[in-house]
Amino acid sequence: MDKMAKKEKKTEIITIDPQAIDQTQINRAGEILKNGGLVAFPTETVYGLGGDATNPGASQAIYQAKGRPSDNPLIVHITNMEALEQIVAQVPQAAYTLAERFWPGPLTMIFQKNEKIPYETTGGMDTVAVRMPSDPIARALIDASTGYIAAPSANTSGRPSPTQASHVAEDLGGRIDMIVDGGPVGIGLESTIVDLTEQVPMILRPGYITQQMLSDALGQEVPVDPGLIAADSDRKPKAPGMKYRHYAPKADLKVVEGDTDAVVAEINRRCAQLVAGDQSVGIIATEETKDRYTYGTVISIGARDDEDAIARHLYGILRDFDTLGVDAIFSESFATAGIGQAIMNRLLKAAGHQVLEV
Ligand code: TXA
Ligand code: MG
Repeated sequence: MDKMAKKEKKTEIITIDPQAIDQTQINRAGEILKNGGLVAFPTETVYGLGGDATNPGASQAIYQAKGRPSDNPLIVHITNMEALEQIVAQVPQAAYTLAERFWPGPLTMIFQKNEKIPYETTGGMDTVAVRMPSDPIARALIDASTGYIAAPSANTSGRPSPTQASHVAEDLGGRIDMIVDGGPVGIGLESTIVDLTEQVPMILRPGYITQQMLSDALGQEVPVDPGLIAADSDRKPKAPGMKYRHYAPKADLKVVEGDTDAVVAEINRRCAQLVAGDQSVGIIATEETKDRYTYGTVISIGARDDEDAIARHLYGILRDFDTLGVDAIFSESFATAGIGQAIMNRLLKAAGHQVLEV
């Protein structure tokens, strides 16, 4: 891990209403970015930690503020297709097709880079990840800066991604120049990443734009990186960030899978044992099951068939259990179709792939 910046800066927090953007405030934030400073801001997926993507020093400062390994590349955020053409060697036809359908929005595409983006931003890689967000504050800020903002999720490395400004302040307060508070995010999981640098486009990180949506748009099956699927796979994930034990809560987290009645019974049984041994436990339940647990702190993630709510609440709940300081967390498992694939990808990573089948 890179040396982490000390908490010695004064971090200004400004609030901006996404429905009525205060351009004077956005311009101040844009100036900070143009001068090489760091500004955290909302996007439709999670909060990002922004720095000028064309400035090597700004990218280095991002790694330091997050305590992130510097071989883990950053995503460059833009607001228009001309900006894309300026920073990549070539835009493949598939990218125009996907951009037409999903940009602006929660999709990141990987291209061969050109010299405009420094290696500090891409973690030494010859490729660059690019996303055009739809969030109005993010867009206004990009336009008020150099037009290219490198932004990883605005958490310290290893913690769950922030879905509201207070999460950012908790992790990065004192380490960055400014936080733009635009309220809670809409999606709550990071963007889908699709690699367009090989013959066949491939999903490197599942997200809100699903495998089915991508395959439909391109008229061909878009595979998921085999390095992501098995915990014990010999294959390394192609997105460097996916190899780290991310999103990790402080407590030991286990996912319990099976019929609802059996899951509830198993969690109750295990919690009884832990509580008898003076341990504190947290349970990630659903609206349907939350009243059936007898021990510990129960938090409902949403109704079982409301995948959007589950996605939006997951990271905040993991953080809440960190704050409560529980020793162990049990989570129910969620359907893997659609955005469920992204939800389970993040939950299993948070659990270090500890799954109890009942
Ligand atoms: O939704 C999002 O994508 C958020 C918001 C802020 O836009 N950003 C985000 O960034 O999740 P970050 O840095 O937390 O995750 C970026 C992921 C990492 O897993 C990284 O390894 C991968 O993208 N990545 C970036 N550039 C890449 C490249 N050239 N090749 C392969 N993977 C890349
Ligand atoms: Mg991240």
